[in-house]
Amino acid sequence: MQVESQELKQDLLPLRAVDHVEIYSGNAKQSAYYYRQAFGFSLVAYRGPETGVRDRVSYVLQQDKVRLILTTPLTEDGIIPFLSKHGDSVRDIALETSDAEFCFKTTVERGARVVREPQIIEDEHGKAKIATVATYGDTVHTFIERIDYKGPFLPGFIATPEDTLSRPVGLKYIDHIVGNVDWDQMQQWVDFYTEVFGFSRFVSFDDNDISTEYSALKSTVVSNHNKWIKFPINEPAKGKKKSQIEEYIIFHNGPGVQHIAIETDNIIETISLMRAQGVEFLDIPETYYDDLLDRVGPIDEDIEPLRKLNILVDRDDKGYMLQIFTKPVEDRPTLFIEIIQRKGAESFGKGNFKALFVSIEREQERRGNL
Ligand code: FE2
Repeated sequence: MQVESQELKQDLLPLRAVDHVEIYSGNAKQSAYYYRQAFGFSLVAYRGPETGVRDRVSYVLQQDKVRLILTTPLTEDGIIPFLSKHGDSVRDIALETSDAEFCFKTTVERGARVVREPQIIEDEHGKAKIATVATYGDTVHTFIERIDYKGPFLPGFIATPEDTLSRPVGLKYIDHIVGNVDWDQMQQWVDFYTEVFGFSRFVSFDDNDISTEYSALKSTVVSNHNKWIKFPINEPAKGKKKSQIEEYIIFHNGPGVQHIAIETDNIIETISLMRAQGVEFLDIPETYYDDLLDRVGPIDEDIEPLRKLNILVDRDDKGYMLQIFTKPVEDRPTLFIEIIQRKGAESFGKGNFKALFVSIEREQERRGNL
């Protein structure tokens, strides 16, 4: 695998990392239980009618540096059209910054569409400045600048009692977040992130790299300078069968977030716990493991637990990585979660596409969408 990196000397925007991912959900209360019990998140903060917000309720879940916000509308306006169009899915990939106003002004000047003008939010724990711009589909980026804020998440949220339901599995931080866009739109969105956000192209490969027997995609990764923010952008490509990206676009009703990849430093332990707690993962063909070491070379882990747990391995010129993909985490075949452990490798698992596509297509076929 070729890692092609056109690094920038410095960032255009003072972004630090993904601050949180907000998922609009039909029933955030029940979804929160799933993410706490199955994925090991802890409920840390809450906002809703009890805190003076009338139109929505939000649960803030955290595991180490990964924060998910689950939000459900309480009234007809606002987020209901989003939910009926897309189902439970990612609305906001919020980005932590030292200057929300500058990020907003700069991206809007360069062509980003305004969703929310900069505003200060405040409570007894401190202040934050937030502003929001649009990206692909109905997805947005909120710039989050906390100003001497000492509370549990953001002004307006209250801390919740210690979470006795949470069953942590060792998830550490978000590694990358993948967007699926429509046919022939990938370049347009890569340009958006390079020109409007000042990101650089990180790794690229196209459908020529992937056997056309399998449902194909094209993908390009954009990232900020410190590489804490990495956004692969996928578009469908023509294969013999319907592309998995096309299936996503149909069921999501347009572009949106396909998966969130979360880092662990012990994938065998993490996946053992997640499986025991009810998370469903893609099944990998048994033959994948027969010649694994011939393909990836020596690795620290024993093959048996990887085979048993269906964990994949891939190598690039910097090292290797282990990864696994959940089945979709809602009824539509749209959003799923990747768990990844990097051991030097900076790439995204291209060597696993063929094995994965066999598995994904088996699932697509069972849904009658192939
Ligand atoms: Fe990924």
